[in-house]
Amino acid sequence: MNFANNFIIYLLRFIPKWAVKIIANRYIAGTSINHAIKAIKKINSKNQSATLDILGEHTKDIQSSSQITNEYIEILRQIQINKLDCNVSIKPTHIGSDINENTVMNNFKKIQSYAIKTNNFVRLDMESSKITDLTLNIYKELMKINGNSGIVVQAYLYRSENDIESLPNNINIRLCKGIYNEDESIAIKDPDEINKNYIKLLSMIFKKNIYVGIATHDKKLIKNCMELIKNKKISTNKFEFQYLYGVPMNDMIKLFHKNNFKIRVYVPFGLNWYNYSIRRIKENPKIATYIIKNLFK
Ligand code: FDA
Repeated sequence: MNFANNFIIYLLRFIPKWAVKIIANRYIAGTSINHAIKAIKKINSKNQSATLDILGEHTKDIQSSSQITNEYIEILRQIQINKLDCNVSIKPTHIGSDINENTVMNNFKKIQSYAIKTNNFVRLDMESSKITDLTLNIYKELMKINGNSGIVVQAYLYRSENDIESLPNNINIRLCKGIYNEDESIAIKDPDEINKNYIKLLSMIFKKNIYVGIATHDKKLIKNCMELIKNKKISTNKFEFQYLYGVPMNDMIKLFHKNNFKIRVYVPFGLNWYNYSIRRIKENPKIATYIIKNLFK
């Protein structure tokens, strides 16, 4: 990361909450379920699917983890009532992995059980490497009950190749670069090397005939993925492209539609917008320029 980016991250602590809210409005579909449903109806009307995420992580008490679990169940109910093309993405630390393994496992099972009833799907988001093993274990348990769940693999982790190898073939993976600040002993740091590994892992996933969500905004990488798809003659029902709500992707979306590729938007919503926005800016300090532009609109 260069000096300018480090400086922006340093300045973040002085940006008032109202200014961060300007960014939040772009990257977050509101604070309530009703806001999120409205956003998803709009996404669906553009021939794109969605996945909903309630903002938040690292829940520390059982009562709150149950409350968030119930909110996910309510979302699944609303998705069914409103006939939305949408599933849910859940962070293990949000529903209890910091409390203990039993709590997070039971909460996932409750949500999965409701998703089975409503014919829906649950994605386990992948968080930091501290809980990669735990997340994979939960996923393997859920898969024993039903195939209606998916996992995430991070291309920056050296271990990901073995993880894909050890997973069965009839599963659903989201492949992303990885967002957490991991130690160089376990994670690739060079952006070009991460991209090389991304393509290597994607080839492995295709070889295993696993369904994959190709989650990246990196246009060069997307084009390399499309080349691989073309060369290997991968059927369009074996993958989808995924991007985060609010990230400008119009040119790529046109390209996806032209090729008949399925598209899914990751839609975060909820009261915890502040921490999420700060994380987004840290990930991509260029976003901070949006604040300045918006201030003068
Ligand atoms: P890269 O960071 O190279 O960005 C490519 C281009 O896109 C750059 O030009 C950049 O400016 C632009 N860009 C990227 N992010 C932007 C943003 N937020 N706003 C505006 N422009 C942006 N990670 C993880 O560890 N666990 C997970 O479960 C998930 N889940 C997930 C779901 C989906 C649908 C996506 C798209 C991403 C994730 N991620 C994730 C995050 C992922 O690991 C990664 O950190 C980000 O997507 C940024 O990497 P890119 O592949 O987009 O490339």
